[in-house]
Amino acid sequence: MITARQIALVQDSFACVLPFTDAVATAFYARLFALAPDTRPLFRGDMAEQGRKLFLTLATVVDALDALHTVLPVAEALAVRHIGYGAQDRHYAAVGQALVDALGETLGDRVDGATRAAWLSAYAILSDHMRAAAARATADRAAAA
Ligand code: HEM
Repeated sequence: MITARQIALVQDSFACVLPFTDAVATAFYARLFALAPDTRPLFRGDMAEQGRKLFLTLATVVDALDALHTVLPVAEALAVRHIGYGAQDRHYAAVGQALVDALGETLGDRVDGATRAAWLSAYAILSDHMRAAAARATADRAAAA
């Protein structure tokens, strides 16, 4: 559940961070690898490029927060691709925490408690759909095997 006020907090803070996406991405991966070290070997490509892909996707989702159904099919397909990358269900919580921590690290005082809570709510909605899609795909594959 996310309120209109929380959507505004997420969108406003994301707009503040746009000039610094490379710094947020660097802080994000450092935090993710500290929280969930077993995710480190899953990333094999160029991390700067990976950070840009992550932020492009986040920008799309943040923009669509008041009409999330429009991006859910894309997010669910992304989640199914993530099975092949080795992402596990429990990694999603670490990704959400790392994202909020990285925003806080980069924006400092501009990320207050309400803004953190708003990001965690938005991420919970998105990641619940992604996790469910990945679980369905895994079950379908097991049934077909
Ligand atoms: C809301 C959550 C997430 C978003 C928006 C996201 C976004 C992306 C995007 C856009 C890509 C580029 C490839 C593609 O489009 O298929 C990618 C790749 C990847 N993601 Fe995620 N991701 C999320 C969650 C996770 C989680 C939970 C993990 C767990 C470890 C993860 C690990 C990876 C890995 C390993 C790759 C491939 C890296 C490589 O090719 O070296 N992601 N992600």
